[in-house]
Amino acid sequence: MKLLFKNIKELIQVRDKNIAFVSGKEMKTLPTIKNAFLIVENGLICDYGLMKDCPKGHFSETIDAAGKMILPSWCDSHTHIVYAGNRESEFVDRINGLTYEEIANNGGGILNSAKKLQKTSEDDLYQQSEVRLEEIIQLGTGAVEIKSGYGLTENAELKMLRVIKRLKENYPIPIKATFLGAHAIPNEFKNDKNGYLDLLIKKTLPKIAKENLADFIDVFCEKGYFSVDDTNRILEAGQQFDLQGKIHVNQFNALGGVKIGVENKALSVDHLEVMDTDDIEVLKNTKTMPVALPSCSYFLGIPYTPARKMIDSGLPLALATDYNPGSTPSGNMNFVLATACIKMKMTPAEAINAATINGAYAMNLENEVGSITKGKLANLILTKPINSYGFIPYSFGNHQIEKVFLKGKEVQK
Ligand code: NIG
Ligand code: FE
Repeated sequence: MKLLFKNIKELIQVRDKNIAFVSGKEMKTLPTIKNAFLIVENGLICDYGLMKDCPKGHFSETIDAAGKMILPSWCDSHTHIVYAGNRESEFVDRINGLTYEEIANNGGGILNSAKKLQKTSEDDLYQQSEVRLEEIIQLGTGAVEIKSGYGLTENAELKMLRVIKRLKENYPIPIKATFLGAHAIPNEFKNDKNGYLDLLIKKTLPKIAKENLADFIDVFCEKGYFSVDDTNRILEAGQQFDLQGKIHVNQFNALGGVKIGVENKALSVDHLEVMDTDDIEVLKNTKTMPVALPSCSYFLGIPYTPARKMIDSGLPLALATDYNPGSTPSGNMNFVLATACIKMKMTPAEAINAATINGAYAMNLENEVGSITKGKLANLILTKPINSYGFIPYSFGNHQIEKVFLKGKEVQK
């Protein structure tokens, strides 16, 4: 199976030598080849270059991409797409003036989603979740992380992780699973948070590790949820089982969780809508990727992650959706890029770097996806005819995708 794309107007994010991620000023550079060819063999990128150097050989299929561009698929490193039902009514409550916090305190929020999920069968949950996975694949996502955290009982958390495992087995897209048992304190443990943490750490975590159900561990470090000390406990427990941290931190308050994340060698620290100077300082020259979730800021009307300040300080940044029923009922990476450019003043080149190679790094997938590099998976976006890649975030609320490919195979609509 050898596939040739010819006459590509611009081949985007071409990295001859694989890199882990880009930071600071490097984020402004997006390497491309104009008037290019790309060859895919057995699902992998096998060659590319200028059209004038295109090999003649025999191809099982040739696609003429004249006027169109090719990019590596979006790498969405933070989602919660396994959930039951939705929280439409809270959306209306917020329109009528309640805050996210007030809704959660009135029995809505994460606990509301957990109640629904606990009553949903594994098969039903799988079916609801695969619809979302197929939806984001059509929107150009070619690698995704999915979290648990809407179960909040041992059985329901395991049910979520098993659904993620089934998605991994049944879809040709790299999926990473994250255990987020410490997403909220269940009512049964309202006055015994340490009891809940003990349960997660001593009972549930060893089971998850034994069944190999998670790649990462997560915790919601926030007032009214889990403290910096709790975060430290969860991250240390994860390390016992080789689960690196990817944490929810600094969404509403800067409590010092970023530092704890870095100290525990978290792979990523996510949200970061509220950033102290110290938070930026501790991230410098580390291997922890900051991840911004602009669709969440958009939907909740909270501040946007100060991307300009962070990138101008030399930090890397990844962009992800946070697709979930409460704060971000959207898995559209195209909208994320547009919002990052419009509201966070990232350039199109920075946004594309953040949504591809840096997103891949935030899932430990930088050797498999995230750039046009020989040997990487041919998970690709073929655009509609466009003049420049800046048109992708410019046309906000829309997308410029004509076709998507996973392992070199076109995904049928
Ligand atoms: O990443 N902030 C914590 N968790 C999710 C939202 C949870 C919910 O409201 O269901 C987030 O935004
Ligand atoms: Fe999240």
